[in-house]
Amino acid sequence: MARVRRQPGTKEALLKYDNVVVLEPEKRCGRWREYFGNDQPIWIEVGMGKGKFLRTMARQYPEINFIGVELIEEVLLDAVKRMEREEGIPSNLRLVWMNAVQLSNIFAEGEVARVYLNFSDPWPKSGHKKRRLTHQIFLDQYARLLAAEGEVHFKTDNQGLFEFSLNEFSRCHWQLKNIQLDMYKKLPEGNVATEYETKFHLQGMPIYRLEAVKPV
Ligand SMILES: C[S@@+](CC[C@H](N)C(=O)[O-])C[C@H]1O[C@@H](n2cnc3c(N)ncnc32)[C@H](O)[C@@H]1O
Repeated sequence: MARVRRQPGTKEALLKYDNVVVLEPEKRCGRWREYFGNDQPIWIEVGMGKGKFLRTMARQYPEINFIGVELIEEVLLDAVKRMEREEGIPSNLRLVWMNAVQLSNIFAEGEVARVYLNFSDPWPKSGHKKRRLTHQIFLDQYARLLAAEGEVHFKTDNQGLFEFSLNEFSRCHWQLKNIQLDMYKKLPEGNVATEYETKFHLQGMPIYRLEAVKPV
């Protein structure tokens, strides 16, 4: 991940955006539909970064509720400001500032229909592999919060992370489909490019992609 310059006052600035940043997300656990005020399915992006993917998706799919999860407050604040500057904050989009290891505290079993992992940090050192968002520690949480037949959609530029993820999904009995080793050779219909995706694609790097259905 690119180094993020820590900026004093970010937390305070973020708290002012309580129209989009959910301040005590654990209180919404099992009650997200009530919070959104409708019965729409919920799709989340874990490690949303500056949020281009989510704000595009939220406009493209008004019949879905979106929740973005981001660990670094400076990055989240940047995402919120970008949304404000552009077309405003879509009513079907909310953001959460937290470490994804705590996802089970904010979502009840089966509350989410789809998880997106876009260009997750590769954590190449073996000693850091438990931080990879496709490590079993995370896959078990996704399986719990996803509804029956819920899916993880994963894109990355990083071959090592992709290989690790294929093994990890299969070890945890997820059903893999639509595996692509160079996604731009046959772009999936409706693909929404993320900030990192655009950057790596312009550098000529192949983009790996897969979809994984949670174990029965
Ligand atoms: C390489 S960026 C990709 C951003 C965006 N998804 C994209 O494709 O442009 C990865 C993002 O995941 C966030 N992240 C990494 N580990 C996380 C975790 N455990 N929980 C929540 N966010 C995390 C990082 O802070 C960073 O913003």
